[in-house]
Amino acid sequence: MRVLITGAAGFIGSNLADRYLKDGHTVIGIDNFSTGQREFLAPSVDLHEVDLLNLQAIVPLFEGVDQVIHLAANADVRFGPDHPDRDLQQNVIATWNVLEAMRRTNVKRIAFSSTGSVYGEAPVIPTPEDAGFPVQTSLYGASKVSAEAMISAYAESFAFEAHIFRFVSILGERYTHGHVLDFYKSLRADPSQLRVLGNGKQRKSYLYVRDCVEAILIALDKAKDKVNIFNLGTDEYCQVTDSIGWITGYMNVAPKLNFTGGDRGWIGDNPFIFLDTKRIRSLGWQPSLTIQQAVIKTVQYLEQNAWVLERR
Ligand SMILES: NC(=O)c1ccc[n+]([C@@H]2O[C@H](COP(=O)([O-])OP(=O)(O)OC[C@H]3O[C@@H](n4cnc5c(N)ncnc54)[C@H](O)[C@@H]3O)[C@@H](O)[C@H]2O)c1
Repeated sequence: MRVLITGAAGFIGSNLADRYLKDGHTVIGIDNFSTGQREFLAPSVDLHEVDLLNLQAIVPLFEGVDQVIHLAANADVRFGPDHPDRDLQQNVIATWNVLEAMRRTNVKRIAFSSTGSVYGEAPVIPTPEDAGFPVQTSLYGASKVSAEAMISAYAESFAFEAHIFRFVSILGERYTHGHVLDFYKSLRADPSQLRVLGNGKQRKSYLYVRDCVEAILIALDKAKDKVNIFNLGTDEYCQVTDSIGWITGYMNVAPKLNFTGGDRGWIGDNPFIFLDTKRIRSLGWQPSLTIQQAVIKTVQYLEQNAWVLERR
């Protein structure tokens, strides 16, 4: 099978590329290296350094492709208000370009990385896939809702099969952004204190990257509706302070915690994210690591790959 992965040099994309290569598939990678890392890419990926915003340039790359995994995006929720057009360009327009490239080359299958952030401050927790979308609280979440809507409309209009995955935060090998990296980097520089956004009581769910990859493969194999939507996460959550305890315990440090205060870390931060994952579990998938194990695995990865800390 010829699989085209957008964002192939990113955290999740490169893990997915490795998995497809291991199964003997051909992987065509698209990445503009805005956040992706060349070191993550296996040499056998057919890599094209190109920006998804350049529709003319990407269309020929879709010829003969069996399946598109669209992961490229601005994946950082936190800094949306600093550059209000970035989520629109990178997450909405880029997704439309991918859909157009598919339509023009007659490619019919797409998997898309959405996010639990689409549920905003969900009234139902754990939040199932059919929960209504409340008012959006981040530009990132809003851009992913828009992208999901466009993908569903293309599926209906042009007989595509779409798989939409709403992830919680992902942890593990090649992790390059998020709270574990921020805390680990800060503690390496100064183990005596740690600045924590909010009051540390935010409750979040996390998932190990290889479990995320397996869930995507299983859903693509087994779910055959026109539009298939899956939450991906573990069936547990933790507080930010739990995660700090695991990280500092592993590093054997005891910093003074300086909380910035308030019940959320940044504008649009949802203080409680926990997704209902019965649907993906019903296909036979289950996570292999707990959140604590995934946090430790991530710290170990960063410890062994300190170069990553200097890149982001
Ligand atoms: N990591 C998480 O915790 C998480 C959680 C929920 C959803 N997601 C989603 O999963 C996907 C992958 O996230 P990630 O953590 O691997 O992020 P990442 O930043 O590591 O990967 C994104 C990749 O896309 C590339 N890219 C970005 N814009 C591009 C463009 N215009 N053209 C070509 N390439 C471009 C980047 O260079 C990078 O390699 C994203 O869509 C993200 O929104 C991630």
